[in-house]
Amino acid sequence: MLSLVVLISGGGSNLRALLDAVHTEGSPVRIVAIGADREAEGFAHARHFDIPTFVVAPRDYADRDAWGEALLAEIVGFEPDVVILSGFMRLLPAGVVDALSPRVLNTHPAFLPEFPGAHAVRDALAAGATETGASLIVVDAGVDSGPIVAQERVSVLPDDTEATLHDRIKTVERRLLVQAVLDLADHRLDLEELT
Ligand code: GRF
Repeated sequence: MLSLVVLISGGGSNLRALLDAVHTEGSPVRIVAIGADREAEGFAHARHFDIPTFVVAPRDYADRDAWGEALLAEIVGFEPDVVILSGFMRLLPAGVVDALSPRVLNTHPAFLPEFPGAHAVRDALAAGATETGASLIVVDAGVDSGPIVAQERVSVLPDDTEATLHDRIKTVERRLLVQAVLDLADHRLDLEELT
């Protein structure tokens, strides 16, 4: 059994796809908790599946390190095998990465190392790229710089807006994430070997 804690910040559509695909009767994967840095809309999916949630909001802590310690304490309390950042829009403090590495994965809406950062879809459009992509990486101390677990190209269409392109990328992100989680559960993927 592979147990996961998933961190989100927003609507959690990728989280929902993961829940629908792997949090099922007889599945080798359990999502044991869903956390966020705010009261995220995506908690609705946690409630639907009766999964515990937690919020660790930076504004409630004196500094980033104190916030990171509180976040880490919540995460390790659920004893997950792997932590998934699924639209979690904050950088993890170094102490959190060090404590969990290499067992933290992040989905990113670009073909890394192209277009790292929080506005990857907008940046790809602004650059006039004809293709971008989706990536799943192991989180390291940098910004979207960790080892790549899986990635796939997505074409940019002439009439794409940020929303239409992001939606198409997210369908790929979801597929990569679900496959990686199943591969981890079946020991076909070993995060230690990637780092
Ligand atoms: C995904 O594209 C993720 O890579 C990015 O934010 C999006 C998450 O969307 N960082 P949602 O909250 O799963 O709908």
